[in-house]
Amino acid sequence: MTDTTEASREPLPSAAPPLSEPSSWHELHLTVNGRPVRAQVESRLLLSDFLRARLSLTGTHVGCEHGVCGACTVLVDGEPVRSCLTLAVACEGASLRTVESLADEEGPLTDVQRAFHEQHAMQCGFCTAGFVMSCTAMVEAPERPTEDEVADQLSGHLCRCTGYRNIRAAVEQVLDGRYGKAGEEK
Ligand code: FES
Ligand code: FES
Repeated sequence: MTDTTEASREPLPSAAPPLSEPSSWHELHLTVNGRPVRAQVESRLLLSDFLRARLSLTGTHVGCEHGVCGACTVLVDGEPVRSCLTLAVACEGASLRTVESLADEEGPLTDVQRAFHEQHAMQCGFCTAGFVMSCTAMVEAPERPTEDEVADQLSGHLCRCTGYRNIRAAVEQVLDGRYGKAGEEK
């Protein structure tokens, strides 16, 4: 029988370089929910992991981890971004908002959060933070988005409990409150 003991102790030829190489770390400066943040981060660190593991902002959920479900959506300089597809280092100098930037435990709900509550636009809530952040970006836009634009934005999110009718109703409640009903704008 062949003795493979020595061979099995050989390092794997494809072994990755140590992750602690100085060149793989960066000093990151950004603003998160209005607070300045400075951190040392690895090049490959995902924004979702940075927010959840390093800043303990676990309101941002991670579902599919490859850009399909929208659960991890946060706002980067006001634009919805999938944090599972974004490197933390790509956010140097940016202003980030997560769901924790909306109502705190004592504070009043935002219009979007209240509309989700009133329209029963959630059940388990796993998808909700992502929907709420995308909807917040829509209602903060300088002009009312068209129906197609709303549908397009919501199509980037998956919900496995509620269905989309109530979520759509919640968005329209906020937009109607801000701009008046379609055809009778304020
Ligand atoms: S976890 Fe990011 S899109 Fe699904
Ligand atoms: S409320 Fe459960 S996945 Fe959307």
